[in-house]
Amino acid sequence: QIKGFVFDLDGVITDTSLYHTKAWHQLADKLDVAWSKTLEDGLKGISRMDSLEMILKTGNKENDYSQDEKVALATEKNTNYVNEISKMTPENILPGIKDFLDDLRANGYQIALASASKNGPTVLKNLELTDYFPKIVDPATLSKGKPDPEIYTKGAELLGLAPETCIGVEDAAAGVQAINAANEVSVGIGDATLLKEADVRFDNTAEMTLANIKKALG
Ligand code: G6P
Ligand code: MG
Repeated sequence: QIKGFVFDLDGVITDTSLYHTKAWHQLADKLDVAWSKTLEDGLKGISRMDSLEMILKTGNKENDYSQDEKVALATEKNTNYVNEISKMTPENILPGIKDFLDDLRANGYQIALASASKNGPTVLKNLELTDYFPKIVDPATLSKGKPDPEIYTKGAELLGLAPETCIGVEDAAAGVQAINAANEVSVGIGDATLLKEADVRFDNTAEMTLANIKKALG
C-alpha cells in the first residue's frame, strides 16, 4: 500500500531541465565539447560537479583543468542558471502538477522532494509550492548522486515510511534507476525508450493522476 510520494523537481514539477540544458550547452560550446542528445539526456538528474565531469569527459578534457578551475566553470554555469530561475513564477508549474499535489494532500499521502539541485528550495519558492514539500532531502548531505539510491532512501526516511510504500517520480533515467534501487515504485515522465525501467510511465505530467497510477499498478 502506497503512503508517500518522493518527487524529483527539474523536469517533473517544472521545466527547469530546459534551463539546466541551456546553461550546460553554453558551457560545452565554450569548452569546445560537442553537444549531443545523448549528453543532454545523460546530464539529467546528475549533480552539478558530476555534470561538469561528464561534459569534460565527453571532450576528453577531464585532465585539462585544476579542481579550482572546475569549480569556477561550474559556478559560471550556475550563475546563468540562477539568472533564468529568478524569472520563474507559478505559471512555470508543469500541466496537472498543482492538481496532482492537491489530490495527494487531500488523500493523506505524504510528500517529499528528492532533487539533486541545490537550487531546489529557490525554485519551489518561485513556483509558490514550498508548502507542499515539508520534507526536502538536502543534496549537500549525499555521498553519491543518482543513479545511487541514497537520495530516494533518504526521502522515504524523512517521511518515516518504508521504501516499498513510496512512489518516486522522475524524468531522468538515472533517477528511475535510483528509485528502483531504493526499492520504491518508480513513475517515469517522458520518453519510453529512455525510461524503459520505470514501473509506470506517462508521456507527460498531465497524464499523471492518482487514478491513472492506480490503474497502471493494478
Ligand atoms: C537536477 C537536475 C540536473 C542538475 C542537478 C544539480 O538533478 O536534473 O540537471 O545538474 O539537479 O542542480 P544544481 O542546481 O545544484 O546545479
Ligand atoms: Mg529531473
